[in-house]
Amino acid sequence: MKRNDIKSDFEKMADSLESGIMEQMQRNYSHTVIDHAMNPRNIGKIEGAEGHARFTGPCGDIMEIFLRIQNNVITEVSFMTDGCGTSLASGSMVTELVKRKHIQAAYRINQKNVLEALGGLPEEDEHCALLAASTMKLAVQDYLSTRNHLWKRMYKPGERS
Ligand code: FES
Repeated sequence: MKRNDIKSDFEKMADSLESGIMEQMQRNYSHTVIDHAMNPRNIGKIEGAEGHARFTGPCGDIMEIFLRIQNNVITEVSFMTDGCGTSLASGSMVTELVKRKHIQAAYRINQKNVLEALGGLPEEDEHCALLAASTMKLAVQDYLSTRNHLWKRMYKPGERS
């Protein structure tokens, strides 16, 4: 067998494996979930964010959310997680939902809102949407607790240089 034939057989096998995985994902997850898991929006850290939360869900996965806020409106938002693909999709979606929104609207976002925006999740993954919504609530609370006492931000545990 020629070298090119081997490569082409390997590529065919990889393609078929990839399409098998994709078909399985499409059976279990909406197009929106797959899109946000594979191309997460707003991922990363915002230095000196006005609102920040780091929350560990019951499964042990961690999510962090960063908010830049002006006149009580979220002007920039980002997240990070060490969790699964659905927590990535949930973090991505919750950050999209709060962009340019008043902090009260962001505070009210709950698990159901994230699930609806994602087109649903299998029951065993629904807690990933809760992790995202809970972390968002805590990030808004963080902003509210320090907005009139800006110096307190310097004393947050784990954020001192
Ligand atoms: Fe823990 Fe998804 S399994 S957040």
